[in-house]
Amino acid sequence: MTRTVYIETYGCQMNVSDSELMYGTLQASGYTPVEGPEGADVVLVNTCAIRENAEQRVIGRLGELRRDLKPGAVLGVTGCMAQRLGPRLLATDTRVQLVVGPDAYRMLPQLIEGARGGDRVTATDFDLEEHYEDVVARRFEGVKAWIPVQRGCDYRCTYCIVPTTRGPERSRKLAEVVRETQEVVAQGLTEVILLGQTVNSYHDGTHDFADLLRAVGAVDGIRRVRYTSPHPNDFSDRVIAAMAETPTVCAHVHLPMQSGSTSMLKRMLRRYTREEYLDCVARLRAAMPGLGLTTDIIVGFPGETEEEFADTLSLVREVRFDDAFTFKFSLREGTPATRMPPEWTIPDAVIDARYDALLGTVRGISRERNLGRLGERMEVLVEKEARKGELLQCRSRDFKTVLVQGPTEWIGRYLTVELTGTTGATFTGTLVPDRHPLPMAG
Ligand code: SAH
Ligand code: SF4
Ligand code: F3S
Repeated sequence: MTRTVYIETYGCQMNVSDSELMYGTLQASGYTPVEGPEGADVVLVNTCAIRENAEQRVIGRLGELRRDLKPGAVLGVTGCMAQRLGPRLLATDTRVQLVVGPDAYRMLPQLIEGARGGDRVTATDFDLEEHYEDVVARRFEGVKAWIPVQRGCDYRCTYCIVPTTRGPERSRKLAEVVRETQEVVAQGLTEVILLGQTVNSYHDGTHDFADLLRAVGAVDGIRRVRYTSPHPNDFSDRVIAAMAETPTVCAHVHLPMQSGSTSMLKRMLRRYTREEYLDCVARLRAAMPGLGLTTDIIVGFPGETEEEFADTLSLVREVRFDDAFTFKFSLREGTPATRMPPEWTIPDAVIDARYDALLGTVRGISRERNLGRLGERMEVLVEKEARKGELLQCRSRDFKTVLVQGPTEWIGRYLTVELTGTTGATFTGTLVPDRHPLPMAG
């Protein structure tokens, strides 16, 4: 009888991709993936440590899982929280038997064997050679593939736990990334998303990110190439030109800004000023008119003054992002921010008020931009069924979500749609019929 494994994934796309690699490793050792923890022989929780609340959720979830597990099932914690807490996790939760960091997933089959024999172990060594090249990812997403091209991070943003949980930056060989792209195309997927913490600093010793974009973008059968997340400092003219000149690379950039204030950016050790960020945006937009632009912003970082926060609001207004992920600062153990003077701590009430003001500004701009685009026609890829109604969730090249009515057989197809309505954040669209004489055909 084959054993079954269930992996529950939290955090960023890198974790989603790692879970696919873990499933792949375990499948090669005879395990069958299942969709829930009930009855599974092995349950792994692939965790995120980026903010305190991400970790609290996992702790709560482990408590629930403990009740759902069948007797004798192995419970393990993987990912960034596993790396960060190591053996401390075994001490906090006595049901957990395995704590495995992001560079040790290759050992999972043996570690699970040990756990079945009663071992409780931690495996959190970094391995700078590890790219899981020989592991065939078990993919669940139907129309697009996440492809890690770089692991770790060499920046040291003072708020961030990722350098601790993911280790130093290293890039896969370009040829390996191209090979994996060819494989996913052969499986019928037409979109890839290249992943790295500062993905545009990619360098495999011979090739940089510009080479990578051109090479992946030229793979036969690929229709969309995306990547996330780039760092503003690594947008060389070469990279921007490669992006603009490769027709398969989508005109969307997620460009984390974090703050609009130069003094704040300095305390965050982001290594760019407000003006340099703006310059990066201007160079991107000049090369690619109509570029979709999204960002990440933190409020309430230590010492944030009213003026600094006002600078963030004004930069948001100046750039006019399509959308932004906004975060309340969370102090992470071991990060340089913990060594800042305690009097710099921003009171929760102030953080909440600034957060609301920022979100209001972001959403207002988003709505204005989106309203201005009604009537536009564009190509979308049908990704999946939408959560509500009998609608399909589609994605434009510039990263807009468009809901369209149609049968599930359309999933994976490209359609031309006209934008007919917007909630402010997402669009509804209708099929432009003459361009698609046979949308229902095989
Ligand atoms: N490598 C990516 C970011 C990964 S983390 C980059 O540099 O762009 C995703 C986002 O989480 C960050 O962009 C930041 O906005 C947010 N974040 C990271 N650490 C945080 C913290 N301690 N508190 C609040 N938000 C944080
Ligand atoms: Fe964290 Fe900064 Fe590295 Fe992004 S670039 S992962 S925010 S340290
Ligand atoms: Fe979270 Fe680790 Fe990603 S901390 S955001 S899962 S790299």
